[in-house]
Amino acid sequence: MGNVKEKIRDRTARIGVIGLGYVGLPLAVEFARSGFDVTGFDVDTSKVDEINAGRSYIPDVKTEDVVGPVKAGRLRATTDMSHLRDMDVIDICVPTPLRKTKDPDLSYVVQAVDAVKAQLRPGQLVILESTTYPGTTDEVVQPALEEQGLKAGVDFHLAFSPERVDPGNQAFSTRSIPKVVGGINPLSTQLACDLYGSIIETVVPVSSTQVAEMVKLLENTFRAVNIGLVNEIALMAHRMNIDVWEVIDAASTKPFGFMPFYPGPGLGGHCIPIDPFYLSWKARQNGFECRFIELAGHVNSSMPSFVVERIGEALNSAKKAINGSRVHLFGVAYKKDVSDMRESPALDILELLHRRGAALSYSDPYVPKVQHGDIKLCSVPEAQAGDGIDCAVICTNHKVFNYEAIVKQFPLVVDTRNALKGIQAGHVFRL
Ligand SMILES: NC(=O)c1ccc[n+]([C@@H]2O[C@H](COP(=O)([O-])OP(=O)(O)OC[C@H]3O[C@@H](n4cnc5c(N)ncnc54)[C@H](O)[C@@H]3O)[C@@H](O)[C@H]2O)c1
Repeated sequence: MGNVKEKIRDRTARIGVIGLGYVGLPLAVEFARSGFDVTGFDVDTSKVDEINAGRSYIPDVKTEDVVGPVKAGRLRATTDMSHLRDMDVIDICVPTPLRKTKDPDLSYVVQAVDAVKAQLRPGQLVILESTTYPGTTDEVVQPALEEQGLKAGVDFHLAFSPERVDPGNQAFSTRSIPKVVGGINPLSTQLACDLYGSIIETVVPVSSTQVAEMVKLLENTFRAVNIGLVNEIALMAHRMNIDVWEVIDAASTKPFGFMPFYPGPGLGGHCIPIDPFYLSWKARQNGFECRFIELAGHVNSSMPSFVVERIGEALNSAKKAINGSRVHLFGVAYKKDVSDMRESPALDILELLHRRGAALSYSDPYVPKVQHGDIKLCSVPEAQAGDGIDCAVICTNHKVFNYEAIVKQFPLVVDTRNALKGIQAGHVFRL
């Protein structure tokens, strides 16, 4: 014990990152770039092969940032979990999805923890980064790791530190986003703070793993609830024939006490639609109903149907029905300038339109193919999208689209993101 402190200080600590996805890869690369020896562990052989070939598959991580450390021998990836024994620090960044019942699915965390447990040795620092409900680290991870006889806080160190990376965000990166850290005891907190302090500008220690776990869920619940509120305001404003976008822009001029959130076709990604339900699930175990979370979930998940209603209204204005019309989506990723399709509302919109008999196509330079139930589509280059389309729908406001050309080219345009801000035309239908 204690040894890992010096190793972190002089950057000789060997760091293992389990799960090389949107969270784990940027973190592994950041550690390797600042001089640590890093091994990435993943069950996906294609990701492991890509890293070992010096290539990035995550848009926010530049290939040149991978190739340098790989060539220098400071970064490698493997599927062989037995190497976890050689690590001084183990950072777990595996998925935490929901089951169909909206209950937490901790199976990836449990699997990763089992792999760590099998190789655990005295002195190691284990950190969970996956977003999860308060209590996971001390109620699930700690007892599992202790099954081999080593005691947390005595023989090995254990902490939780939520990841706040925002894919596609050019303003903030792993290095510049403050990192919250909570250990099972003061030494674990201190060691994890030392570790992150060597690659991240601001580290925020908190008093426990539960606080650190809940911080992340508060942040994402805050977003889900505010997006739910503004989506409800959008539905209301539509009924009252008021332009919600103009309302939000004008409200945003208030220099205090207001923060703009924008309506849209629905929530997507791996965090906002999912994480609040980790919190409400845990609250229910404690006899508490989270009404805001449930209500926001209800409003947000109704947005794809509202978009389809607007498409119906647009087609109706041209005496057409959804059935038999050709509808083309611009953007299917869950948010602008990323390729992530997880939980994308475009999938629900495509499905609802498909069920109503629309002929579908889409353009998304970040997403070459979509396969969803019976729907199998390939992205059409933007310039070739025009012929015979009855209605274009701006589903994701990627910067690369030529919005003026879209307005000129298509007989009807439904804009779910206010991408056509400032453009007034009779054939444009906003959310
Ligand atoms: N994507 C985001 O923007 C974001 C932001 C903040 C927090 N998070 C949280 O971070 C965690 C990871 O999310 P992500 O987006 O990086 O997921 P991801 O799906 O992009 O990556 C997870 C990786 O873990 C690997 N994996 C799964 N089980 C494994 C196992 N047993 N052993 C080794 N590797 C395994 C997968 O193959 C995959 O490469 C989740 O809890 C998520 O909620 C994500």
